[in-house]
Amino acid sequence: MKKVKIGVVGCGNISDIYLTNCQTFQNLEVVAVSDLDLNKAAEKALKYNIRKVLSVQELLADPEIDLVINLTIPRAHADVCLQALEAGKHVYVEKPLSTTLNDGNKILEKAEEKGLMIGAAPDTFLGGGIQTCKKLIQDGAIGKPIAATAFMMKHGPESWHPDPEFFYQDGAGPMFDMGPYYINVLIQLIGPVRRVTGSTQISVPERTITSKPKYGKKIEVNTPTHVTGILDFENGAIGTIITSFDVWGSKTPYIEIYGTEGTLSVPDPNTFGGPVMIRKPGEADWEEVGLTHGFIENSRGLGVADMAEAIHSGRPLRASGKQAYHVLEVMHGIYESSLNGMHYTMKSTFEQAAPLPENGIEELENDKVKTFEGGTNNE
Ligand SMILES: NC(=O)c1ccc[n+]([C@@H]2O[C@H](COP(=O)([O-])OP(=O)(O)OC[C@H]3O[C@@H](n4cnc5c(N)ncnc54)[C@H](O)[C@@H]3O)[C@@H](O)[C@H]2O)c1
Repeated sequence: MKKVKIGVVGCGNISDIYLTNCQTFQNLEVVAVSDLDLNKAAEKALKYNIRKVLSVQELLADPEIDLVINLTIPRAHADVCLQALEAGKHVYVEKPLSTTLNDGNKILEKAEEKGLMIGAAPDTFLGGGIQTCKKLIQDGAIGKPIAATAFMMKHGPESWHPDPEFFYQDGAGPMFDMGPYYINVLIQLIGPVRRVTGSTQISVPERTITSKPKYGKKIEVNTPTHVTGILDFENGAIGTIITSFDVWGSKTPYIEIYGTEGTLSVPDPNTFGGPVMIRKPGEADWEEVGLTHGFIENSRGLGVADMAEAIHSGRPLRASGKQAYHVLEVMHGIYESSLNGMHYTMKSTFEQAAPLPENGIEELENDKVKTFEGGTNNE
């Protein structure tokens, strides 16, 4: 199979796992890296044996490149996506799709106009943990989903991220940074959202960095750090989500889906594996369910491999820009509802991605074949 040739823009913290994993997918080849700081790009090129270190403009003008992976910081996502689409490249962007709904719309429209694909992180929902949950729900293991809870309760990344200021500016905060993992999984398992309600606050206006090299530096907080949302799904289920950078400890679960015939305990949506647990009526305890699907290690880039396959075959991609836009609108809706003191009615919807095929995954994992087949996107 012809490999999809990739240029990576943004060589920061998250780029290592992409550059590592892209080398393991036989339908991908990273040919160039770029960053505003070319030293960072050069360092990654050396580490991962990548042929070209280019400025962003050179990379976008390079005819060898089919697809750009955009790993820049959130407020640069839209600019880089739009420029890359304009230059005729397919784009896969880290979460969130963009910081504003207006920019998200522009990205979807530009991709449509140019006949190009726009894919977006997170792709953790393609991992064995969430794919197993999807199959259990489809097989009726908990009956009809009627409600869900999702919690991301931590104390902020200034203790570990080397450059954490952006987490406290517009387009980040716990909801825009971590919410995409949780909302993406909720909509994959339950379906589109029709209405949201929210309450948000900045609990502490200034934070202190305790990671290196910026130890001791103060951060002015300009975006909510405790965000609570209620999600009314189109199918009638009601979800509750809390994302917080203000909590020192919590015993809340990651995600639970409550059905008419049982409860599903969903694994950490920021990972690809399990455990998946189920609690049936009358049972005294939880039962752990064996994973039915592969990709249980950190497989970031799986969404790009799936997209490369979609580019070749013409089938829909799974980690799609439309899905990421729906997630973005849920997050904005929670903020808007909090600001206006009213429910926010969703304008967008999306089609749930087809489940990953079990045998196809095994084949790709074992590197025995160069491709894996999709399935349809119409369930
Ligand atoms: N760090 C993580 O654990 C993690 C995990 C999952 C997703 N993400 C997402 O990945 C993205 C990047 O996060 P990160 O932690 O790697 O950030 P980072 O700050 O470590 O790296 C971002 C890089 O992008 C470069 N950059 C910024 N604007 C640019 C532009 N206009 N053109 C070219 N390069 C530009 C910066 O110089 C920097 O090297 C974010 O969207 C984040 O939400 C991060």
